[in-house]
Amino acid sequence: MSASPSLPLPAVAVRRLSGWLTHLGVSRDAFDDTVGLLSPLLRVHSLQARLVERRAETPSATSLYLQTGSAFPALQPGQYVIIGVTIRGVRHRRAYSPRAVPGRPGQIAITVQRQPGGLVSQHLNEHAQVGDVFDIEPPAGEFVLPPQLPSELLLIAGGSGITPGMAMLRHLDQTAPGTRVTLIYFARSERDRIFAGKLADLAKRWNLLRYVPLDSSAHTPNGQEAGRDATTATARVLDTALLDRVAPGWSQLPTWCCGPAPLMDAARQIWKEAGAFDRLRLEAFAPPQASGDPNARHAVALRRDRQTANFEAAGNLTLLAAGEQAGLQIKHGCRQGICHECTCRLHRGSVQDLSTGQRIDGEGQPIRLCVTAALSDVDLESLN
Ligand SMILES: Cc1cc2nc3c(=O)[nH]c(=O)nc-3n(C[C@H](O)[C@H](O)[C@H](O)COP(=O)(O)OP(=O)(O)OC[C@H]3O[C@@H](n4cnc5c(N)ncnc54)[C@H](O)[C@@H]3O)c2cc1C
Ligand code: FES
Repeated sequence: MSASPSLPLPAVAVRRLSGWLTHLGVSRDAFDDTVGLLSPLLRVHSLQARLVERRAETPSATSLYLQTGSAFPALQPGQYVIIGVTIRGVRHRRAYSPRAVPGRPGQIAITVQRQPGGLVSQHLNEHAQVGDVFDIEPPAGEFVLPPQLPSELLLIAGGSGITPGMAMLRHLDQTAPGTRVTLIYFARSERDRIFAGKLADLAKRWNLLRYVPLDSSAHTPNGQEAGRDATTATARVLDTALLDRVAPGWSQLPTWCCGPAPLMDAARQIWKEAGAFDRLRLEAFAPPQASGDPNARHAVALRRDRQTANFEAAGNLTLLAAGEQAGLQIKHGCRQGICHECTCRLHRGSVQDLSTGQRIDGEGQPIRLCVTAALSDVDLESLN
């Protein structure tokens, strides 16, 4: 795994030059803006990448190949990058899970699933053009393979949740093909399965890869499940019977699971009941949903730049969504709890952090509005 934080020589040289100029009073932004006039890929502080190729993967998912500059750090398979996209003059930031592109130094590929009503995913699928330049932040995230690779592992993916798994598979195929891997991949249908052909080819030539493509089930409101196992034509969701059949000894295997909330909830419950939760790593793509009282009307006072905005928050909305519903423009980025752009200090009242389930009682702690719901009236102060 190429996890070295060291930079190739040109970037080191450019960064050193930037360091000298900083001593002379040239700011990092001014330096980046100046070298960026030559090429946006020369920037060393606020990084950018250029779209060099687009490939349709399914009717609703597109791979975007991005050329990064030499200051872009090495990528660990499974990590995410935050991409900044300007749409109608407003910059939005979203996380995507890239993979390295073999034979193309400095190139990474992201695959973006179009979400219904999704601002950035629709823009990237429909309007992003070869030649476009995006802001890109260094790779981050803990959903990665360990430095000491296990001899056997299990990957579970649903929908676009295959992207970090694909990065891991490619890495293992190239550097550790002696690893025994089972991939269980749920998609609505074969047509919607991202990388369907590539995965089938990979499984044909890598005999230690067991690839289990399944048509996912719809969870109906009464809790019943419908669906079809593409290989056996029987109803299927993630359950212990499936795991016993396709990955015997699964509870002992290090496991990575990424997909929609019902799949992740099922995995969480199964691994908890098996006493194996410490072997399960989960990554959520969609923001957590608040499940509090929709009829609650908590009074929120949000102070920013010596001005206070007041609004009401229902228990089933994040504080960010509640503020936006009240017509406020609240500073935010990823809407997923990872960029910290929406961080506020909680001075009074109680909230629930939806990413951990933890209750926080106001004593001046930082909270992220996009993944927090009010449990009482609250006083907040914006930190951005
Ligand atoms: C660590 C991480 C890695 C990610 N990697 C990828 C990736 O490789 N490929 C990819 O396509 N996406 C990935 N995502 C999701 C991505 O960041 C965006 O959330 C997604 O593209 C939707 O953004 P949007 O602006 O189109 O939707 P928004 O305008 O923000 O939201 C529109 C609606 O879609 C819902 N929504 C948002 N995201 C999802 C989702 N993932 N699933 C279902 N509903 C959703 C929202 O709740 C909202 O109702 C990742 C997210 C995280 C946190
Ligand atoms: S918007 Fe990114 S953490 Fe809230």
